[in-house]
Amino acid sequence: MQFITVKTYEELSRKAANIIAAQIIQKPECVLGLATGSTPLGAYDGLVKKYQDGELDFSTVTSVNLDEYAGLDGTNDQSYRYFMDTNLFNKVNIDKAKTHVPNGCAEDLAAEGARYDALIAELGGIDLQLLGIGLDGHIGFNEPDDCFTKETHEVELDPSTIEANARFFASIDDVPTSAITMGMQAIMQAKKVLLIANGAGKKEIVEKSFFGPITPQVPASILQLHPDVTVIFSEN
Ligand code: GLP
Repeated sequence: MQFITVKTYEELSRKAANIIAAQIIQKPECVLGLATGSTPLGAYDGLVKKYQDGELDFSTVTSVNLDEYAGLDGTNDQSYRYFMDTNLFNKVNIDKAKTHVPNGCAEDLAAEGARYDALIAELGGIDLQLLGIGLDGHIGFNEPDDCFTKETHEVELDPSTIEANARFFASIDDVPTSAITMGMQAIMQAKKVLLIANGAGKKEIVEKSFFGPITPQVPASILQLHPDVTVIFSEN
């Protein structure tokens, strides 16, 4: 594991954008595993800037996102599909048909999970998986549990996650109580993992995840077993 501590969010974002850009340059037809949340926004801005400056070409890139709220479709401005379209996909030359987000409106979320895992397998797996981390150690929406879940699956969101994510919604009652998330298999089989965490409030969970015991009660701790993980933590 490479653990990098930086002083500012700008530095974190710059480093993350550089790592993702290097992946695209090295393998233009790569599969990027992408994340939502506030933390990746600076990195996405950095990638857009590189594209605008003619340094990056997304035309042969495929993306698979980690998760989606149950019941929100892509037209809902709180959906993760909408987030990805507005913060990255609409601003670069990625082929929208090659951008994948689990369908939170699928009638049968278990079947949707199976479809999503088959899609990732068909794509040959993920080259670089970008992750944020929740205050309870969740990655994607893999919440603390008695076991790690392998497949893409439906999850009930923890009250602490609902509270943390309420800031993006008009009221806490509008936050969906469940979601569909990529499971640990696709994440752990990614060739490289890049986890970014920002601010003093994340310090404790980052320490627990990367320097504490490996336990499904701290989902991100499984990453200690991944052969190529980079963590960038910004203190401020
Ligand atoms: C959500 C997402 C996670 C993300 C987390 C942290 O719950 N499902 O993928 O890592 O939020 O978000 P933030 O970066 O805003 O702290």
